[in-house]
Amino acid sequence: MNTITDSMAIAAAPTGAARSIGDILVASGQLSADDAQRVLQRQQQDKSQFGDAALALKLLTKDDIAFALSKQFDYSYWSEQDTSRSPELVAAYKPFSKAGENLRAVRSQLMLRWFNTDPARKVLALVSPGKGEGRSFIAANLAIVFSQQGERTLLIDGNLRHARQHELFMLGKSAGLSGILADRAGLEAALDVPGLPRLKVLPAGAVPPNPQELLGRPAFGALLKAAAEQFDVVIIDTPAGSDFADAEIIASCAGAAAIVTRKNKSLLPNATLLARRLQDSGVVLVGSILNDD
Ligand SMILES: Nc1ncnc2c1ncn2[C@@H]1O[C@H](COP(=O)(O)OP(=O)(O)OP(=O)(O)O)[C@@H](O)[C@H]1O
Ligand SMILES: [Mg+2]
Repeated sequence: MNTITDSMAIAAAPTGAARSIGDILVASGQLSADDAQRVLQRQQQDKSQFGDAALALKLLTKDDIAFALSKQFDYSYWSEQDTSRSPELVAAYKPFSKAGENLRAVRSQLMLRWFNTDPARKVLALVSPGKGEGRSFIAANLAIVFSQQGERTLLIDGNLRHARQHELFMLGKSAGLSGILADRAGLEAALDVPGLPRLKVLPAGAVPPNPQELLGRPAFGALLKAAAEQFDVVIIDTPAGSDFADAEIIASCAGAAAIVTRKNKSLLPNATLLARRLQDSGVVLVGSILNDD
């Protein structure tokens, strides 16, 4: 009997593309096994899709079904009911929104212009002259869309003055970047992000009294070299470029930078000045990203 076969499939809950939508939703707790049975019966009766039958029974929402489909096709994102991370991470919470679409367009441009399999072209610093222009927002969300594309992605919080990535991703304890630079840890300080299997985030760690001096240590270059061997894409968040030399030091080590400008906030002359300073230090300017929210 079909129903029994299907219910056994739910109980077995295999992983990967072989899983049915019912399996996935039962495993994630969004549907009880009994309700899954009801959906299967309705599906047989109506000769419809599982999702349509569940909608007809009002047991699932369209979002629940989209979530299950993403798992079935190995496209990682988070259910909006999961409030364990910041809603600013739109690429994971609302991948099909306009913002998600824009981020994927930026990803495509960066793939064309910079990232490739050459270890010398795997690291990119995101810089901007002023505070609050959206470097952390763009860095976090870009790292997510790269990981969703299947790239092994590392996001480094290089803003040792006003770190935010640990808050956005609500990360647990880690020695962080400052711990690595002080020789107290290695790349294992980069943490997994539940639900985004190809992404790791290295938080800034404890705020050091001497960020600039720490970033200038050979340990930073060694870290980026090791990261380029283990990851396909490494994105670094930085402090405001006009205020400190940190961003310049980070971008020099990374070899490349993209400049974030925020509509109605960034001052063009400051962005131009920062671009010139970076070019003078031999940094490849991959492009500018207009943060238009
Ligand atoms: N495109 C956007 N859509 C919605 N909110 C945004 C966008 N860009 C930035 N923000 C919001 O603006 C605020 C400042 O952004 P963010 O922290 O990313 O800036 P920053 O350049 O990293 O600032 P800082 O100088 O403090 O490091 C945050 O609350 C962020 O969520
Ligand atoms: Mg920031």
